[in-house]
Amino acid sequence: MYTQALNQADTGSKLVEDADKLARFEAKIDAEERIEPNDWMPEAYRRTLVRQISQHAHSEIVGMLPEGNWITRAPTLRRKAALIAKVQDEGGHGLYLYAAAETLGVSREELIDQLLSGRAKYSSIFNYPTLTWADIGCIGWLVDGAAIMNQIPLCRTSYGPYARAMIRICKEESFHQRQGYEIMLTLCRGSAEQKAMAQDALNRWWWPALMMFGPPDAASVHTEQSMRWKIKRFTNDALRQQFVDATVPQAHFLGLTIPDPDLRYDEASGHWRFGAIDWEEFRQVLAGNGPCNRERMEARRRAHEEGAWVREAALAHAAKRRARAAAKIAAE
Ligand SMILES: [Fe+2]
Ligand SMILES: [Fe+2]
Repeated sequence: MYTQALNQADTGSKLVEDADKLARFEAKIDAEERIEPNDWMPEAYRRTLVRQISQHAHSEIVGMLPEGNWITRAPTLRRKAALIAKVQDEGGHGLYLYAAAETLGVSREELIDQLLSGRAKYSSIFNYPTLTWADIGCIGWLVDGAAIMNQIPLCRTSYGPYARAMIRICKEESFHQRQGYEIMLTLCRGSAEQKAMAQDALNRWWWPALMMFGPPDAASVHTEQSMRWKIKRFTNDALRQQFVDATVPQAHFLGLTIPDPDLRYDEASGHWRFGAIDWEEFRQVLAGNGPCNRERMEARRRAHEEGAWVREAALAHAAKRRARAAAKIAAE
């Protein structure tokens, strides 16, 4: 009886303490201060960030595959060098992001295991195939372009390590976008066949690129809370509109047609209004039924297995160095 009363008092004081911590946490967010790894944070904030940052990291890593596919077939040495650099950048983005997620108390092994076992999501866009060289142009122009739209506001996200990782990532993404657009420009100024190849790639990538911003606001489960915690700064629909407004004039400059019969410029609002997105296709791709889901996961699993010896060697090397350092200290 006595213990029970004591426990109740304990729980009561813990609740008061938590309310206090929560108030301090929210005041910090309101004041636009960053939350750092050692700061107290609500469990749901931590979980949301782990989910978002790791999905982002997985997308960078899986995103290396469709483009890696074209490194050996790039049309010139200059194109090949730029593509290798870009794919390598994406690997680096994955690295910064896994490291940022690790500051939230989750290990990289755990995150990779979630990806390889199919429990974690990555961006739906990387489940589409890269059929021609123009697809590499379209990915840089549209996919990296959409990524920039999404990620620039994340440079001001409330979690410090994530915001800092995004600053560096965004600088590299803008190079990716430019190299993609330059490929498109070259194709569109080339032969009729090259221009047709560029148009065909745009036809296939346009709608999946719009889906990259996620479900419409009305159907987005995480948006409201994430906006309140300043993890997210703009809604999916707002970012999608911003992307369309920026991209339509770029397509016109290329002399290409956006594959949307409903696309029209709305003078009153100054926005490009676009047709309905096929959300059923989006759901299918997320559910694992996109054109390349199986192939992408197989490639990741194979890379993980084939890289096992590298991880083992690195661990053995680190253990040897630690032992040597310990022996040196002992001898002093
Ligand atoms: Fe990236
Ligand atoms: Fe990129």
